[in-house]
Amino acid sequence: MTAFQYFKEQWTPVINDYLEKQLSKTIDNEKMSQIMAYSVMAGGKRLRPLLFLATLNSLGQEIDENAIQIASGIELIHTYSLIHDDLPAMDNDDYRRGKLTSHKKWGEAEAILAGDALLPLGIQWISQGSNSSELVTIITQAIGPNGMVGGQYLDIDSTNNETVANDANFINQMEWLKTGCLIEASVQMAAVYAHADDIKQVKLIDFAREFGRAYQIYDDLVDVIETTEEAGKATHKDEEEGKNNTLTLFGIDKSRKELQNLITQAKEDLQGLNNEVLVGFLDLYKKVL
Ligand code: IPE
Ligand code: IPE
Ligand code: MG
Ligand code: MG
Ligand code: MG
Repeated sequence: MTAFQYFKEQWTPVINDYLEKQLSKTIDNEKMSQIMAYSVMAGGKRLRPLLFLATLNSLGQEIDENAIQIASGIELIHTYSLIHDDLPAMDNDDYRRGKLTSHKKWGEAEAILAGDALLPLGIQWISQGSNSSELVTIITQAIGPNGMVGGQYLDIDSTNNETVANDANFINQMEWLKTGCLIEASVQMAAVYAHADDIKQVKLIDFAREFGRAYQIYDDLVDVIETTEEAGKATHKDEEEGKNNTLTLFGIDKSRKELQNLITQAKEDLQGLNNEVLVGFLDLYKKVL
């Protein structure tokens, strides 16, 4: 077992337990708690919370309950983004994490509200766990109009829009914002929380930028490589839905090359850090290369 696999197996159940217990304990309305927990507990990879914890680990910071609360808050925010991304007005998807999407299971208004509720709750957990306005600023900037939601807007705006189909700068920016920003923020919050020195902070953020940019290329490749069962969500649909992304721009071979270049750079960024676990995150990409 690699250091990354060991780390993942150690901390994923801790994150899952925290999410499950706190969602049921702290939400007054039982039905709403159930709707929110349905999507959160449907079984995601927990990539962003694990990245937050692994960054703390690389900096020698103890992983205590506060750190788990912050990590779990990141996952609530990510889950909100998935629920809304799947809505009929957005990507109109029926399956997510191997189960019916929130709106298919509970209704559209319920899904919108579950997402609406997960977003501030996630920020609340980050705020309470860190007691730091700096972390709150990092996360809110990363997911707002100049971050994740801005990227989702560009995605929607460019769907079935020929004029951006060959615009590599546009696609790079759109994919960076919608997916890279939250990944970068997960690492940056850990660096700030653990008081990393400037040199380490720069290296970690460079790593997070390469890894975060790579993640949407990986996801675009998953759409053409994996089956629905493997991915837990509908695949083979981006092109047909008129999505413009790295894959529709470059094709499979060049997208893989682009991904490989980012992996190489990300590994270089980690040199000189206690990086055994962090470098293991890059293994995730092997299945689409
Ligand atoms: C899917 O995210 C959406 C993107 C931002 C690419 P993940 O691939 O992390 O999905 P889960 O959390 O494992 O379900
Ligand atoms: C989703 O991108 C990005 C966010 C949810 C912010 P996609 O639309 O490509 O993600 P999937 O393929 O539905 O998971
Ligand atoms: Mg989308
Ligand atoms: Mg989608
Ligand atoms: Mg996708």
